[in-house]
Order: sequence, then C-alpha cells, then structure tokens
Amino acid sequence: MKDIILQELEQIRERGLYRRTRLIQGRQSAWVEMGGKRVLLLCSNNYLGLAGHPALIEAAVNAATQFGVSSGASRLVSGTMELHERLEAALARFKQTPAALVFNSGYAANTGVIPALAGRGDVIFSDRLNHASIVDGALLSGARLVRYPHNDHNALARLLERHRGKGRALVVTDGVFSMDGDIAPLREIVRLKTDHKALLMVDDAHGSGVLGEQGRGVAEMMGVADGVDIRMGTFGKAFGSYGAYAAVSQELRELLLNRARSFIFSTSLPPTVLAASLAAVELVQSPEGASLRDQLRRNSDQFRNSMRSAGFTLPDGNTQIVPLLTGEADTTMRFSEQLLDVGLYVQGIRPPTVPAGGCRLRFTLMATHGHGDLDWAAERIAAVGRRVGVI
Ligand SMILES: Cc1ncc(COP(=O)(O)O)c(C=O)c1O
Repeated sequence: MKDIILQELEQIRERGLYRRTRLIQGRQSAWVEMGGKRVLLLCSNNYLGLAGHPALIEAAVNAATQFGVSSGASRLVSGTMELHERLEAALARFKQTPAALVFNSGYAANTGVIPALAGRGDVIFSDRLNHASIVDGALLSGARLVRYPHNDHNALARLLERHRGKGRALVVTDGVFSMDGDIAPLREIVRLKTDHKALLMVDDAHGSGVLGEQGRGVAEMMGVADGVDIRMGTFGKAFGSYGAYAAVSQELRELLLNRARSFIFSTSLPPTVLAASLAAVELVQSPEGASLRDQLRRNSDQFRNSMRSAGFTLPDGNTQIVPLLTGEADTTMRFSEQLLDVGLYVQGIRPPTVPAGGCRLRFTLMATHGHGDLDWAAERIAAVGRRVGVI
C-alpha cells in the first residue's frame, strides 16, 4: 500500500502539481512572518483586514466566556444556540431577504444547498470557471451537470433552451470569480432564469462585504438581488471570520434545513466564530466598513496600474483579485518561490484549481496594504518576472 501512495505522490510531483502548506507565524495581516522573515502577504482573502480587528476579537473572547467554545451538536439536535439565531437575523437584515441559514463553511454550503435543490432528472447549469465546491455540490446531487462557457450568457441561453422541460433547472454562478476576479453578467442571467422559470444561485464568497454601497454583494451592486433565489456568501474572506450563509426566502430556508446534508449531519459553528461573524456583519455596514471598502478599491486600482507600468499584461477587471497568467506550473512555482525570497508571499495557482495551461499568480489586495507596500511589491514582482521570463 505504501508503494502505491509513494508512486502516486511521485506522479503528482512529476506533473509539477505537488502541494504543501506554508506556515504563517503570528496573526494574519498585511505583513506576516514566515520562516522568521517579514513578508508582504499578497494572497489572503482577508480583504478588509477584519481577521485581526479588535471588535471581532473582543466579540469572540466574550462569546467564549459567556457560551463556551463548542456547540456540542448539529443544529437539528442540540446545537442551535442564541448566536446562530442572532447571526441569521442580522444576515437577513443585511441581505434584505426574509431569512438566512448559516452553514459551517462555503464548501459545506455549496455541497449542501445544491443537492438539496436539484437531483436525479434535474439539470444544473454551471459556469465553467465556478468554484470547485459548486462542481462538487453538482456532482453529489446526481443531477445532470451542464457547464457553460465562462460568463457566456448567450451560450447559457442556448443550453437552457436545449434542456427545456427536462426536470428542474438550477443555474449556479460565482458572483466574483475566485481565480479571475471578474464578475458574472447577472442582469442577463437573471433575465434568462426568469424566462426559463429556473432557480438561480449566486456564490458571492468574494463579493460579500466588498461590493455594493454597504457591502451587500454583487447582486445588490447590480440591482438584481430580487432575481437571485439563493444568495450564498462566506465569512472567511472579507468578513474576517469563518463559515457561510444562504440568504433566501422563508420556504427555501425551511427546505434547506430539512434537506441540506452538510447542515443536518455536522456539528454547528462554535460561539466564538458566530460572535466574530456577527461583529463583522455590523462592521461591514458601518462608516468604518465603507472606508475600508474605499481603501480596498484604491489599493486594487493602484496595484493594477503599478503592475501594468512595470510591463505586465493583466486581464480586464477591477476587483481585489488580480490574476497574472504565468503559463506552465514550473514557471509559476519558480516565480512564487523567488518572490518569497525577496519578501513577497503569493501562492502559485495550478490545476485542478484552474484549467490546464491557466497557471497563475493570484494576487489579492487588502484594505490594510499601505500605498508604499504596493509600489514596492510591483517593482520586485517585475524584477523576478523578468528573471523567470514572464516579462
Ligand atoms: C467562490 C468560492 N466559493 C466557496 C468557497 C469555499 O468557502 P470556504 O472557504 O468558506 O469553505 C470559496 C473559497 O475558497 C470560494 O472562493
């Protein structure tokens, strides 16, 4: 057995796809310590810097003191605590939906919600670049999975037409695409889902807290929130905490509570995490939240401009996710390693996270990056980029 495992690991290495964890010492922030060295963090989803915010820390500490550190059971047994209900009420107010249901993570939400809404005999229409957890949810469901070309609403229209009348239709898309940073054409998708009486789910893991005037997310920013049946978002990114939610109608909440297996068969989130998320929901809507979003936008613009001035070609886009296409896996990983040597941490992204040939460095900006940090970073990235042949 050991031989088979070692052989498989060798094959992963040979294909340049071997992965390992990297240790961040101390707290998550713009600058972190790795291997005893201070480095600029450019691959965290802690977009607003809330992971280290005093209000979230205080909320978590107080919750541990008052409620303990575990819920002790799944939600439907004895694991529904006061904080679960307060967080769901706060979320429903924030997302302006009748109800919300909290999940243990974005992965758990997608693998729970999708099979709860579609099964054998139904059809799931999924953008080709959707997050892996959406693909896994669709595969788990037993429904037919139809993947449409990225952001191509005309192709989606044709596919919806071709499968008309074949069971329930569920359209699922990332709001902001996690590896590309571009945004789904939600106005067109909402029009199509209405014409075809389909259900629409938007995974807004990267837009919640960041997009829209009060950070309500991508559907709200585009003015189509009412056309989206399931607005899913996560707490592990801009909200600086952990977990996820589906903002939905009362009936959908009830259905998910009865059908979503990741919700039913898993110990619920602990009080500390819920309290931190609750504090984050308040903070995101406050003037401080608005000013962090402004700063994040400015940082994203500045970084794109500096990278382009340094000679890089970047895809169009204006979110906090900035991909730099680097081609093959070995160039990408060499690029990433050499950046770490000069004080910058950005992880190389390879298949299966992105399609073959789509390797990249995925830079993510935070509101807590300083103006000087980003120009300094672009200069170093350009120097290393020339060395590894990307410019
Ligand atoms: C678009 C998208 N959906 C879902 C997830 C999963 O969320 P979580 O990390 O909370 O499991 C991620 C996280 O990487 C994501 O980028």
